[in-house]
Amino acid sequence: MVCLGNICRSPMAHGILLQKITERNLHVEIDSAGTAGYHEGELSDERTLAELHKNGIDLRFKKARKVQPDDWQRFDIIYAMDRQNHRDLIQYFIPEEAHYKVKLILSEWDGAATKEVPDPYYRDQRDFENVFSLLEPVCEEIASRLDSK
Ligand code: 4NP
Repeated sequence: MVCLGNICRSPMAHGILLQKITERNLHVEIDSAGTAGYHEGELSDERTLAELHKNGIDLRFKKARKVQPDDWQRFDIIYAMDRQNHRDLIQYFIPEEAHYKVKLILSEWDGAATKEVPDPYYRDQRDFENVFSLLEPVCEEIASRLDSK
C-alpha cells in the first residue's frame, strides 16, 4: 500500500487489509510505504489510528517508511492510493518489467465512486472517515479474492 507520506492513507489500507487477511487465516505479507520520506520512523497520523481503532484495528506497531529500491521484488502487488502516487512509483521506484504490479487500489472494486483516495492530511477527522469508507469495501474485495486463490 503506497501513498505520499505513509502516515494517513496507506496505513489505513494496510490496517484494514491486515484485519481482513487475519480474520480469514490467510498468510499474506502486507506492508505500506510512502513515495516521500518526510515522516520516516513516525507512527501513523493520530486521525488514521483513531479511525482504525474505532473499527477494532490496532496499527500502533507500524512506523512510516519510504518505498525502498527492492520493494518491487518483495511484493506481488503494489497498490497506489492516487494517480500521483501511481505515476511516482512508475517513474522513480519500479523498473519497467514490474510496472504490471502497480495498480490504483480503487480500480480493484467496480463499486467505487471515485478512482482516487483523496489526501486527508490537511483536512479533518471526517475526511479520514471518508478514506476508511473508500478503502473498506475494496479491501474486502481484495481479501475475498485472495481467499479464493
Ligand atoms: P498520506 O498523507 O500521503 O496519506 O500519508 C500525507 C501525509 C503527509 C503529508 C502529505 C500527505 N505531508 O505533506 O507531510
